[in-house]
Amino acid sequence: MASFQIIVGSMLGNTEYIAEAAETVLQELGHTTAMHFQPEFSQIDKTKQTWLLCTSTHGAGDFPENLEKFIHDLQSYDQPLADLSFIVIGVGDSSYDTFCQAGKTLYNIMLEKKATPISPLFTIDMIEIDDPESEAEKFIRSISDQL
Ligand SMILES: Cc1cc2nc3c(=O)[nH]c(=O)nc-3n(C[C@H](O)[C@H](O)[C@H](O)COP(=O)(O)O)c2cc1C
Repeated sequence: MASFQIIVGSMLGNTEYIAEAAETVLQELGHTTAMHFQPEFSQIDKTKQTWLLCTSTHGAGDFPENLEKFIHDLQSYDQPLADLSFIVIGVGDSSYDTFCQAGKTLYNIMLEKKATPISPLFTIDMIEIDDPESEAEKFIRSISDQL
């Protein structure tokens, strides 16, 4: 069983609900989880962990405010994160040209840091999807064999 650090970027709360739904499925599958709604990079375990990064996009393709310092610290970190596997759930609205740009950027930063992706970026389009929490649950179940 894996140990998950769930890192959440959210302004209005939608992504928090999605992260909680994903966490419930991970726990049902027998994994351990730690939730970070105000992520502090230095305090998040980087040893043999899977990071589930859930972020909405705001502004014009920007990260939510609560994730800005985490992203800065992640980018400044001078060691490879080769001990980490990761998943990114991007939450956004496809009426924006910069659909889920924060999720895309975060996925690429994790690749640059040498972490191992478990799946391609998973996006949730809030104008197309009626029940984003169940979409996240289905996604986690669909990759359960790789966790
Ligand atoms: C001011 C504003 C700017 C936004 N910009 C983007 C954007 O650039 N790209 C995108 O995919 N979604 C964008 N969105 C949509 C949000 O990502 C979407 O509403 C999401 O559900 C917010 O999740 P949160 O409550 O977790 O912050 C924007 C929403 C607002 C209110």
